[in-house]
Amino acid sequence: MSQNREQWGSKLGFILAASGSAVGIGNIWKYPSMAGQNGGGAFTLVYLACIFVVGLSIVIAEFVIGRKTQLSPVGAFEKLAPGTNWKWVGYLGVSSAFVILSFYGVVGGWILKYIIDSFSGGFDALAGNPEVAGTMFNGFITSAWNPVIYQVLFMMLCIGVIINGVKGGIEKWSRIMMPMIIVLLGVLAIRGMTLPGGIEGLSFLFNPRFEDLTASAIVLALGHSFFTVSLGMGTMITYGSYIDKKQNLLNSALWVIFLDTAIAMLAGVAIFTTVFALGANPAEGPGLIFIVLPTVFAQMAGGAIWSTMFFILLFMAALTSAISILEVVTAYFIDQKGWSRKKATIQFGAVITVVGAFCSFSLGGGINITEFLGMPFMDFMDYLSSKYMLPIGGMLTAIFVLKKWGISNYLAELKNGMGEKNFPPQLVKAILTIAAAIVAFILFNEVYAEIFGKALIG
Ligand code: PHE
Repeated sequence: MSQNREQWGSKLGFILAASGSAVGIGNIWKYPSMAGQNGGGAFTLVYLACIFVVGLSIVIAEFVIGRKTQLSPVGAFEKLAPGTNWKWVGYLGVSSAFVILSFYGVVGGWILKYIIDSFSGGFDALAGNPEVAGTMFNGFITSAWNPVIYQVLFMMLCIGVIINGVKGGIEKWSRIMMPMIIVLLGVLAIRGMTLPGGIEGLSFLFNPRFEDLTASAIVLALGHSFFTVSLGMGTMITYGSYIDKKQNLLNSALWVIFLDTAIAMLAGVAIFTTVFALGANPAEGPGLIFIVLPTVFAQMAGGAIWSTMFFILLFMAALTSAISILEVVTAYFIDQKGWSRKKATIQFGAVITVVGAFCSFSLGGGINITEFLGMPFMDFMDYLSSKYMLPIGGMLTAIFVLKKWGISNYLAELKNGMGEKNFPPQLVKAILTIAAAIVAFILFNEVYAEIFGKALIG
């Protein structure tokens, strides 16, 4: 462990950075569109259960492993289990970071383009007309260079933050952007609820209609709970490695989970109240944000202002997540290879940007390996990471604590900063076992479905 490892400046700074990682495109784009397509309130209920049962226990485990070792994932597993294969869980995390950031950066670029378009009044012509909005969006993302230019811009911002380190980059920008996200979303949610008919959106989001609760929605909610809390690839191990021994990790983890959930709900409220008030289709899926919302905002008084606000907050959410993904890669090269932060950030930021450009090209910009993968490369990267890499990483992390590191060692580290509090080891063991078992079941179900063409459930 290096004596001069960077540390967070304060507990609040750490909580804002970690919740900044958690709150991202997953909360504001993926969650509302998934809820819209899977029965609203019923989906929300399962999602909440997954976050609290599986998500919370694995966030805490990642924080504890990071703080104990003061190292990013590969070094952390190597230190706690020297000479074993557990370090591969760390390598899996670093690989997941490559995969996720490559497509995340592309979506980040789309958001930048939408900020500019909404600000310049480019959505005015879309009022109430999803066909035109759809053609515009699809035309943009399937063109060759235009989306790549925005993606490169987004990645440059991401590199610009990470190059300045933990306190001067990640913490500084999270402190600025997280409060802004909450305020802007709050304003948009209030605006939505005060629109005539907006309240209907609330009952869509929160009224559980159990007849809509299909088994596949349950599987989807479970997978999403990893993505939304940034679990299973060592992001929280890396962020945890910059914490000092005085911090109460249970309390910090509860804050991160609470903020992530509250912001997803608030985004759902802001979006569905507005969509219902203006009579648009709530079940649009992925097109909800980039196609339906621009048509809806354009119908409102001051629409350009509301939509610019929305895309700015989405951009900030995406950036505070993207930096946490790049930090996993950067920290690996600093910790394990002795590189300077600057060299690691620029070189691997550039490599990921190039892979991301291929994601973008795969949507129609010329280079197409869709036939080989069965879907565009961009969707493949999303599918691979959310459905397999993150759940496998998360499950192995829980198994590592249970089988290799040991509950008593784990609890000894967790207790630092918590005063005299004692945790019953059996209970902790039971919770981690349940979390790992649930994930193992989803993975089994997925693989079964891939092989036999039909899931056991779903
Ligand atoms: N949690 C982020 C989101 O919801 C995505 C993310 C996944 C970030 C994995 C870091 C690691 O958008």
